[in-house]
Amino acid sequence: MISSETIERIREALPLVDYIARDVVLKKAGSIHKGLCPFHNERTPSFVVYANDNRYHCFGCGKNGDIFNYVEERNHLSFMEAVRLLAEAAGIALEEGDARENAEAAEARRMTELNERALHHFRHALKELPAGRKALDYLLARGITQESIDAFKLGYALPQWAALASQLIKEHYEAESLYTLGLARPDKDGKGAHDYFHDRVMFPIHDERGRLVAFGGRVIDEGEPKYLNSPESPVFKKRAVLYGLPFARKAIGKNDLAIIAEGYMDVIGLHQAGITYAIAPLGTALTRDHFKKIARLTRRLIFLFDGDAAGRKAAFAAARPAIELNFSVRVVLLDAKVDAFDLSRTLPRQELEEFVRRGIPLTDFILNCLYQESDSGEKALGFLDRVYAWLADMQEEVLVSLFLQKAALLCNANPEELEIDFRKKRKQGGHRPAQDAAKKNLPDSPPVTKFRLEKTGTDADFEIYLLRLVGLHPAAWPALQSEFAQGLRIENSEARFMLDALASLAESAPAWTEEAFQAAMPTEALQKLVAGDIAAGKFSVDWEKQLRDTLDTLWAQAVRRERRMLDEEMRRQKLTGDEDMLQELQNRILALRRREDALKHTARRQK
Ligand code: GTP
Ligand code: MN
Repeated sequence: MISSETIERIREALPLVDYIARDVVLKKAGSIHKGLCPFHNERTPSFVVYANDNRYHCFGCGKNGDIFNYVEERNHLSFMEAVRLLAEAAGIALEEGDARENAEAAEARRMTELNERALHHFRHALKELPAGRKALDYLLARGITQESIDAFKLGYALPQWAALASQLIKEHYEAESLYTLGLARPDKDGKGAHDYFHDRVMFPIHDERGRLVAFGGRVIDEGEPKYLNSPESPVFKKRAVLYGLPFARKAIGKNDLAIIAEGYMDVIGLHQAGITYAIAPLGTALTRDHFKKIARLTRRLIFLFDGDAAGRKAAFAAARPAIELNFSVRVVLLDAKVDAFDLSRTLPRQELEEFVRRGIPLTDFILNCLYQESDSGEKALGFLDRVYAWLADMQEEVLVSLFLQKAALLCNANPEELEIDFRKKRKQGGHRPAQDAAKKNLPDSPPVTKFRLEKTGTDADFEIYLLRLVGLHPAAWPALQSEFAQGLRIENSEARFMLDALASLAESAPAWTEEAFQAAMPTEALQKLVAGDIAAGKFSVDWEKQLRDTLDTLWAQAVRRERRMLDEEMRRQKLTGDEDMLQELQNRILALRRREDALKHTARRQK
C-alpha cells in the first residue's frame, strides 16, 4: 500500500487549481476559482475549485472531491491508478519499489497464473475429453452457445478425487498454493491433495482488471450445493467482485447503464442475447464495494432480480448503498417462474431491452416495500414510521426530501408538514413515530405505485409532464436542448429514460409523429399515459404556456436544490473561516434567491 505521507506529498506537489486548469478555464474570484464543469454540460459555470483546501465542487452536477477523485472521475481510473498517474506527474517515486509491495504484487501474479493454469485444464476437459461431453451437452441443452462457452471460458472439473491437483503438482506447482486458492484441499493424512471442485461446470471469475481470481462451479443437472465458489483468497474478495464485469465494461460505458442480475447464468444469457452490459454479484448481497466498482463506469442501473421474496429482499438491501453512492436505479422483479436467463432465451433482444427498461424507480420500490412490510391491518399506520426509520441516517438531504414528498403523496399528507415533522424528530434523535396529524390522513388500503402526473406532483412528475409536452410537440425540442445547456437537469430515472427515447427520436426523425412518440415510451404505463394525452388532445391548446410554466417550476426546484447544497457548503466554509470564500458563497446564495423570487413573480403574473 502507498503510505498516506506519499499521498499527502503528491497532493502538495500538485495544487488542484493548477491541475484542473489544464482541462478547464478557471476564473479567480476571491480564493474560489470557477469554471465550466468538466463532468456535465453547462453554459454557466457552477464548477468551483477551492484553492485553500484543494477540493472541487460542482453545484450543477454535485461532483466533488480532491485531486484523486478528480482524476478517477475524469480518466475513469481506480484510486490506485489515479495515484500512480499523479505520482508520475509530480515526479514522486512510489514505494512500490518497496520490497513488500513488490512481493505482494508478485504473489498475486503467481496466484492468478496458477488459476489460469487450472482453467486450462478445466477448458481442456470440457472441450477435448470424453468425460467432459456431458457437461458440454448440459450447457448446449440449456441453450448456451459454443461462442458463449468460449467467450466466458467455461470449463469442466473432472469427477476424480484429485484430477486437477495431481496434474498441477506434476507440473511443479506447490500444493500450498493450491490450498491458498482453494483449488485443492490437503488429504486427511496430510500426505496428498484432493480437488475442491468435482464434476462441475466451471465458471471462471475475473476481477475488474480481468485477472482470474476465482471459480464458480455448478453441478450438472440437480444436486447440492448447486454452486460452489472458490473460498476467499489473497486475490479473491467476494464482496467486491462482479461476475462479467471485464466483459461488460465497454458496453456499460457506452450505454451509460448496467444491468445487475442475480447469477452466472443470467449474465451469460443476457450477453448472449446481445445485452452486454449485464453483470451479477456472486450470489451475495450487493455491497458498497460493488457499487464503487461500477461507479467508475456508470451511475445508472437496473436491478433485474427474481420476483420471489429473496429477490425483493436483495433489491431492498442494495438500495441504500446504491442511493448513497448516487446511483439512479430502476427495479425489475421477474415473475415467479422465470429468471433473467429464461427471459434472455425467450425474448428477442429488442423486447428484452424494452422489458428491462420498464422497471420502477428505486424510490418507489422502497416506499412500496416499506408499505408492504407489515401484514397486519395497521399497515397504513406503520408506513410513515417505517419511512422515518429508513430515512433516519440518510445523509443526502435532497433524497430525504424526495422520499418524503413521495411518501406524502402516497398517504395524502401535506409534504411540507411531513418534512418539518420528520426533520424535527430526527433532530430529537431516535426513531420517533410520525406525527398523528399526518397519520390520520392515511388510507386503509395500500397505495398504488402510480403517482399522479398532474400539476401538484413531485419533481419527477413535472419532469415527465415536460417530456410529454415536448414529445407531442417536436418543435419544442431545440428549446428544451437550450434549457439543458443552461444546466437544467432531468433527475428522475423514469424521466431520463423518456428523455433517452426522445433524443433518439429527434436524431432519427426530427419531426416525429405522436404515434412514434407513444411507441418510443420506455414503459407500458407511459405509453398508456401518452395515448391518453393524444386521445384527449391534452397538449393541443395552450401548450406553449404549459411548457413555460413547467420549465419555471423545474427551474425553481433546481434552484432550491442548488441552494441546499450551497447552504451546506456555507456551513462547512464557516468552520474554515475564509472571508473571501464566504463572501463568494453569500453572493451566489443571494443570486439564487433573486432567481427564485423572479420565478415566483412570473408564476403569479401568469395566474
Ligand atoms: P441456474 O439455476 O443454473 O440457472 O443458475 P443461476 O445463476 O440462475 O442460479 P440461481 O438463480 O439459483 O442463483 C443465483 C446466483 O446465486 C448463482 O449464480 C450463484 O452465484 C448463487 N448461488 C446459487 N446457488 C448457490 C449455492 O448453492 N451456493 C453458492 N455459494 N451460491 C449459490
Ligand atoms: Mn437464476
